[in-house]
Amino acid sequence: MSDSTIESVLQEQRVFEPPAAFSEKARIPSMEAYQKLYDEAAADPAAFWAKLAEQELDWFEKWDTVLDWQPPVAKWFVGGKSNISYNCLDRHLKTDKKDKTALIWEGEPGDSRSLTYTELHAEVCQMANVLKDMGVRKGDRVGLYMPMVPEAAIAMLACTRIGAAHTVIFGGFSSEALRDRLNDAEAKVVITADGGFRKDKPMGLKPAVDAALADNAVPSVTNVLVVQRTKQAVDWTAGRDVWWHDVKPDASTDCPAEPMDSEALLFILYTSGTTGKPKGVVHTTAGYNLYTHMTFKWTFDIKEDDIYWCTADVGWITGHSYIVYGPLSNGATTVMYEGAPRPSNPGAFWDVIEKYKVSIFYTAPTAIRAFMKMGDKEPNARDLSSLRILGTVGEPINPEAWMWYRKVIGGDNCPIVDTWWQTETGGFMLTPLPGATPTKPGSATKPFPGILADVVDTEGNPVGVNEGGYLVVKHPWPSMMRTVYGDDARFRRTYWEHIPPKDGQYFYFAGDGARKDEDGYFWVMGRTDDVLNVSGHRLGTMEIESALVSHPAVAEAAVVGRKDELKGEDVYAFVTLENRYSASDELKTELKQHVVKEIGAIARPGEIQFTDALPKTRSGKIIRRFLRNLASDEEVVGDATTMEDQSVLEKLRQGS
Ligand code: PRX
Repeated sequence: MSDSTIESVLQEQRVFEPPAAFSEKARIPSMEAYQKLYDEAAADPAAFWAKLAEQELDWFEKWDTVLDWQPPVAKWFVGGKSNISYNCLDRHLKTDKKDKTALIWEGEPGDSRSLTYTELHAEVCQMANVLKDMGVRKGDRVGLYMPMVPEAAIAMLACTRIGAAHTVIFGGFSSEALRDRLNDAEAKVVITADGGFRKDKPMGLKPAVDAALADNAVPSVTNVLVVQRTKQAVDWTAGRDVWWHDVKPDASTDCPAEPMDSEALLFILYTSGTTGKPKGVVHTTAGYNLYTHMTFKWTFDIKEDDIYWCTADVGWITGHSYIVYGPLSNGATTVMYEGAPRPSNPGAFWDVIEKYKVSIFYTAPTAIRAFMKMGDKEPNARDLSSLRILGTVGEPINPEAWMWYRKVIGGDNCPIVDTWWQTETGGFMLTPLPGATPTKPGSATKPFPGILADVVDTEGNPVGVNEGGYLVVKHPWPSMMRTVYGDDARFRRTYWEHIPPKDGQYFYFAGDGARKDEDGYFWVMGRTDDVLNVSGHRLGTMEIESALVSHPAVAEAAVVGRKDELKGEDVYAFVTLENRYSASDELKTELKQHVVKEIGAIARPGEIQFTDALPKTRSGKIIRRFLRNLASDEEVVGDATTMEDQSVLEKLRQGS
């Protein structure tokens, strides 16, 4: 956030009560009701979650122990057996929901499709049977590299149905990034499509899979299941590649869901951290199912006839928890959209809301800001009166964007739920409950019942009212990540050792800075580490630096975030060149392209600045703080006397 944004957040005094007519019908209708739930959960979290697990989910076998907490390793519902695909599908078929629309898909250009729970169940079973035929067994991993089509959700549910863990890799990642993730997970099968539509144009996905698997670079992969979407010509490896439409007609629509241990691996999702390669965040079966179910139910106050739309991609945790699992476990109707906001089609989002009478809309601040910039004309020209709740996620929302969202999209009448959470947390941690919580523009308000969150200093002591500190969680919750796939030590180091445990109290370290105001409202300020948030996409500076350094021209690289009005942050790279190369605009373009090749377009640096030297301490550490200031044209703050060579800063300021 820019300083002016932080300033306006600090001065933000506006409070919006939930509309009375909304609260009257809400599941959690008042702050008293919220507080009662919160207190009940805080007094005995295990009992609280056990009661909900019993009420809200179906089980093949009940658990013996609700919570086994050997810090920092938590096990929930130990001894129980369930299946998330069953909870999302089969159990609804025994009710009136069987003919209810489960999934509405709005594709590009102009395609659409909808599936009832019965239809979705049938396709999931078919794909599960195809995976079984390919030799996929309980405990195996399956990589998904998919466009936003129903088959992405079908594939996820097919995997979890047979007890295989999926690892979804965002379709915008490059073949290099795909290969690394598939190898780390040792995926047996990859599910992909010929391509997908991005901003109206078909783009290839299968070619990236071919490149990732070339020369047996991922030896664990034996088959590739390919969905036809764009009808582009694709290369074919006989024996390995299988068209979904070829095998589907013969696949049975019956495939019983595998009873899974509560702590069985459910999925791996890679995300960026401060150091090293992306980490595989591990989520397990029952706790994740329960927590995404409950947070979806209460935060979106879901009702039988709601039409819910989350604009995220299934490649991110938001797509996992709140396009697929949370909504379907609740038997809701979830909308999936293949498009993206863009200037050439400024009314696209509002068309979808009008067409399907969307009642709950969940998107990211970066999209809200982009639409705000395009003006009120487009949304004003649509009937958005079906909306009753608006949501936001991914980065701090500036009060101006929040107010615009409320007024222009929500007609001043829809509660806004600003949900703070992470890949690692699985579900919402801080969020208003729409019928209960008075909202303040820019605040994610209060913890979800059962979440003991706080803002502390480096020793774990709570900081004072309105003082900045580290956002932590002090008690395990059902959908917390269990480990980094294959690297328990990294899990401990990254999340549990930043703030050392004290008197048996462990602190889950989120990596975000925050403050709590006089009403106990949380204001999340953004990352405190070297993780960037570009348009709500999380990127590690180290990853981008490694990508740059892998180019022969680059001697050294330092990547920082530059404040950006639309994206929140943009990638800004300082690069020193090997002697035999000289700076040029062509080389800048080449280096940007190189990052796209290594990671993907989302990591493309907005700016590259060539420099003879980087500011370093006498011990040789790059002083990133200075670079951040320089990138954002701010005054360099902090003590420059620790610098090895004082003239470096001056040269950088002059642009070299
Ligand atoms: O910095 C926080 C920011 O996004 C980070 C998590 O990124 P990721 O794991 O990719 O998950 C994004 C979707 C859940 C957090 O550490 N963040 C997410 N939501 C918010 C937010 N920052 C402020 N307010 C939010 N509502």
